[in-house]
Amino acid sequence: MSEVAKFACDGHELEFPVVEGSEKERAIDISQLRKQTGLITIDEGYVNTGSTRSAITFLNGEEGVLRYRGYAIEELAENCDFIEVAYLLIYGELPTQQQLDTFRSSIASHTKLQDGVPAFFDHFQKDAHPMSMLASVVSALATFNQDSLDPTDAAQIESSILSLMGNLPTVAAHGHSKITGAALNHADSELSYCENFLHMMFSKSGKEYKANPLFVKALNLLLIVHADHEQNCSTSTVRMVGSANANLYASIAAGVGALSGPSHGGANEAVVNMLYQIQADGGDVEKYVKKAKDKEDGFRLMGFGHRVYKNFDPRANIIKAACDELLEDLNLDDPLFDIAQRLAKVALEDEYFIKRNLYPNVDFYSGVIYRAMGIPVEMFTVLFAIGRLPGWISHWKEMHESPTMRICRPRQVYTGANSRQFASIDKRG
Ligand code: SDX
Repeated sequence: MSEVAKFACDGHELEFPVVEGSEKERAIDISQLRKQTGLITIDEGYVNTGSTRSAITFLNGEEGVLRYRGYAIEELAENCDFIEVAYLLIYGELPTQQQLDTFRSSIASHTKLQDGVPAFFDHFQKDAHPMSMLASVVSALATFNQDSLDPTDAAQIESSILSLMGNLPTVAAHGHSKITGAALNHADSELSYCENFLHMMFSKSGKEYKANPLFVKALNLLLIVHADHEQNCSTSTVRMVGSANANLYASIAAGVGALSGPSHGGANEAVVNMLYQIQADGGDVEKYVKKAKDKEDGFRLMGFGHRVYKNFDPRANIIKAACDELLEDLNLDDPLFDIAQRLAKVALEDEYFIKRNLYPNVDFYSGVIYRAMGIPVEMFTVLFAIGRLPGWISHWKEMHESPTMRICRPRQVYTGANSRQFASIDKRG
């Protein structure tokens, strides 16, 4: 007999089924609540609300567990490259060598932007934010791929997946060229995904460029740990937009917009700007921990805290270790990394942070690595988006493959004016 949750209200005695996932997570299925009681639930920020069932990523916030399709993030980060992990997320299984080679070459054949797309960058302001440029151009890609927009056609979905996976780094590199004035280098399909991205941004025209293998390794790891994170804000946005049968480009563009917020993916940029601020202020980390605790101040320690992780973010641990290794290998002494480590130490020993289970999250250390690679701070969230793209795609695809898919349309509790008589303009005020 399956478990039920008993519910009593307005004289109603009701039972709702309790559903259990493959990792024994349990949820009350309230899909019949309004029909049976006229009541709805309300849950600001969806802290306690599950939006869907999903087989893609499992998080255990209490134990700091993150698995993509059942594989531990630590193992994937150690043993895979990003395209292999992207395949796993999108298609559900680790690829065979042949599947991986085909996927890799299909993506490589989509790295060049169609004629007309680069011209968008001629019209952005020089100080345009690369995330705004990315969202704009990704949305516009739908107009250049009008033969692959049908979300019910598997072949068209596959075509748009490969187009987005191939195009995104190139669009990002155009944004980098726009804000830095550096020459843009055409994609080199002979290079790996990460090498090609670094090549497009950093090759000096006419000079042989060999990406530092340490940078390629670090970028690969960063893209893997950013690749998916179940129903986070931007992924939920991609699902929400996709649930209306909007095309994949429009759904991903919406996800880029959500990710740009400093409470979400924009935090990696905000972390480095915060570290710069602390450095300019004499490196007084205690002062900023104090500010973060002061409700009147409104300052938050960027890169700290998480809705799900209440112990530690396993990705932060992986990235911090990569930080240590890269800076040591490069014999680089980054004062911001020292400040970050001192800040984390003070915060993690402070009752305010301990009581609220606030730990460094994925964004706290990633910017230090990007800086070491010479990537401008405005580009940090763009790299988060490149990493998260396969996650967004996998959730959009899973939703469309679900027989229970329906448009996402939450309810509300109305708190506005009750019915009132219309007044013509001469009788107002
Ligand atoms: C990402 O969802 C995902 O999985 C996201 C992500 C992914 O991979 O997709 O992991 C990526 O977005 C990571 C988070 C990046 N954002 C930041 O680093 C911004 C700083 N962090 C916070 O703003 C906050 O911690 C959030 C947004 C991450 C989580 O917000 P919640 O879950 O809504 O937590 P909350 O705002 O309700 O805070 C709970 C308490 C509050 O204090 P009290 O009211 O209980 O006294 O903790 C405090 C908050 O004031 N708090 C912080 C804090 N984060 C929470 N206080 C100081 N500094 C902080 N960073």
